[in-house]
Amino acid sequence: MSNFGRKIYRYKSLNSTNDTAFSLADKGAAEGTVILAEEQKKGRGKWKRRWISPPGGGIWMSIIIRPKLSSLELGRLTLMAAVAVVKALRNYPGLKAMIKWPNDILVRGKKIAGILIEMKEKKGKVEYVVIGVGINTACDLDQFPEELKNCVTSVRKEFTHRFLDEKLIKEIIKQIEYYYSVFKKESFSLIEEEWNCYSAVLGKYIEASVSGKKISGRAVGLSDRGYLLLRRDTGIIDEIFGSDIRIEME
Ligand code: BTN
Repeated sequence: MSNFGRKIYRYKSLNSTNDTAFSLADKGAAEGTVILAEEQKKGRGKWKRRWISPPGGGIWMSIIIRPKLSSLELGRLTLMAAVAVVKALRNYPGLKAMIKWPNDILVRGKKIAGILIEMKEKKGKVEYVVIGVGINTACDLDQFPEELKNCVTSVRKEFTHRFLDEKLIKEIIKQIEYYYSVFKKESFSLIEEEWNCYSAVLGKYIEASVSGKKISGRAVGLSDRGYLLLRRDTGIIDEIFGSDIRIEME
């Protein structure tokens, strides 16, 4: 019997589904509680960037989980969520979703979805985690700032058949529940295998900025913590985290 999505809170408009998930989790909301909004007024992405979330433009959702983890293990949870979202999108023929490390979901090299994992911790232990998922299903791509227009896409643009947000929402909940159960069984290697299959960066030459410094090298895999391993031309292998990366053309 599935637990995720048993309780779904739906709103017309919220500042951010992640914020509402935080207040519900503080009041004791159960693992698997889902929060959906038709519109977010202050949707946010990673590095506190704005996440454009117009009414009816996409799926803006958050799921509460209560893993028994140290906050250092959060990187792996991000990869778990990325694999789950890719799997859900890949149910639609033609939506060949790929993961750009750590949490951008791309179709034909353009961003279609993003994941924002946030948590509350107490004394180094995670109290709860909020998995925020934003999917551009029907966003008017002209609403994006000029510099982003060519980097984003939507489900409607990529998948021309009949499409219902509700069906995709169900699928995402199902996949997150499934991969989270795999994660809890400490089968991260299975998630890593899937991540490798859908990675848009593995084997590619990339540039990452780490503490303001640019590092280039080939993405050669993931570390135990779920960080990206980058092999520089000198052969040195760096573990990259908390960085945006640029995939270089070869
Ligand atoms: C990113 O790629 O930068 C992450 C984007 C995450 C957006 C989602 S939409 C639902 C949830 N609520 C938010 O405010 N952000 C996440």
